[in-house]
Amino acid sequence: MAPANHLLISCILFCFIIAVSEAQPSFRPKALILPVTKDPSTLQYLTQINQRTPLVPVKLTLDLGGQYLWVDCEQGYVSSSYKPAPCRSAQCSLANSKSCTTECFSSPRPGCNNNTCGLMPDNTVTRTGTSGDLGQDVVTIQSTDGSNPGQIVKVPNFLFTCGATFLLDGLAKGVKGMAGLGRNKIAMPSRFSAAFSFQRKFAVCLTSGKGVVFFGDEPYVMLPNIDISKSLIYTPLILNKVSTASAYFEGEPSSDYFIGVNSIKINNKIVPINTALLKINEEGFGGTKISTVQPYTVLETSIHKAVVATFAKELSGVPRMAGVRPFELCYNSTAIGSTRVGPAVPQIDLVLQSSNVYWRIFGANSMVQVKSDVICLGFVDGGVNPRTSIVIGGHQVEDNLLQFDLAASRLGFSSSLLFRQTTCANFNFTSTA
Ligand SMILES: *[C@@H]1O[C@H](CO)[C@@H](O)[C@H](O)[C@H]1NC(C)=O
Ligand SMILES: *[C@@H]1O[C@H](CO)[C@@H](O)[C@H](O)[C@H]1NC(C)=O
Ligand SMILES: *[C@@H]1O[C@H](CO)[C@@H](O)[C@H](O)[C@H]1NC(C)=O
Repeated sequence: MAPANHLLISCILFCFIIAVSEAQPSFRPKALILPVTKDPSTLQYLTQINQRTPLVPVKLTLDLGGQYLWVDCEQGYVSSSYKPAPCRSAQCSLANSKSCTTECFSSPRPGCNNNTCGLMPDNTVTRTGTSGDLGQDVVTIQSTDGSNPGQIVKVPNFLFTCGATFLLDGLAKGVKGMAGLGRNKIAMPSRFSAAFSFQRKFAVCLTSGKGVVFFGDEPYVMLPNIDISKSLIYTPLILNKVSTASAYFEGEPSSDYFIGVNSIKINNKIVPINTALLKINEEGFGGTKISTVQPYTVLETSIHKAVVATFAKELSGVPRMAGVRPFELCYNSTAIGSTRVGPAVPQIDLVLQSSNVYWRIFGANSMVQVKSDVICLGFVDGGVNPRTSIVIGGHQVEDNLLQFDLAASRLGFSSSLLFRQTTCANFNFTSTA
């Protein structure tokens, strides 16, 4: 009788194990993808994740330097799997939270729980910050082999911060928060890497149509079967030790991606600028960062003036037209030829760690079509003494793949994909499954 019982028990255990492993096949993705579209009225880049139980699609504004995922929990957040992060928990220390809500004076809901640590979610478009609870919930996202979308995978406890409804002001219609891809540990790239133990790398390929973000390692393949990761130029990412968020705890570093631009050349001629502005000072001012919430590159006033003057001089054969806000330098486009990489205008080089490493900006990325036959230099004046001297904006990175390697602290960039007869809209979103 005893052996029979033993057999029964082991069968129960064994069968149970089989059943569980069949229900959850051990599929571990190598990389993940998010589609990205451009909102024509705000020029914001939008993406979508599925979150909560039951799962709902959540539309988000993509924020390359953003600290983490934040969503509005005040309105319409219904989920049976939401978990607040208790004060002094591992999640709170990972997030570097320095605040604790001991009591929320209302009935409990996502974003209002007793004994929950908080952060300061930031609308980086309007530069508005507030306080909000740290929490976790289910997120699902599509995996990829680098060429096509694969099966959908689930992260049961994805960290995010609860924002407020007013914090959505200034974001595109239907958006419920921001997808922060910054360099800190609780931003989305690090969270996905931790969830699936893949390399702390991600790549962004934006375009005016449907672009893509890859989380994880290469390949990053665009039609017709071109692996963009094979020919990148690398430059170190620089840490700004002072946060660039609208609200932050003292001593927090910036989650933005800074690179070291040492000079600017137009048609190989040095643009005369005060190079001290290109360094990040003790207060965290100056330097060059990349942003997806700025539609166009923003230059400190004196740099803007010098770039406009040099560019105008190099293109003096073409008659200028009146400026069209927010741009100063405009031309009748019928007087300018066209090339594979856009209007035939002087090349702008952001010279990086050495004179032979530069980010070359061609007409498709430097010029903006503002009317049927008017194009303007797409750089705007950021005023005197801005927080960051050069903010490379969305238009300048479109159809360029940018790979951020957090472990190696370096940026890989492709230059214009138009040279390779592809674009960031050429990821094959057709599923193989
Ligand atoms: C917080 O705790 C207080 C006191 O125990 C309780 O009255 C209140 O309902 C709780 N609030 C939430 C949001 O759980
Ligand atoms: C641009 O130049 C063409 C050819 O000279 C002219 O017909 C057109 O009116 C000009 N456009 C503007 C906006 O000035
Ligand atoms: C896109 O991928 C699908 C699935 O692998 C494939 O059938 C299709 O031919 C691809 N499209 C192109 C244009 O290569």
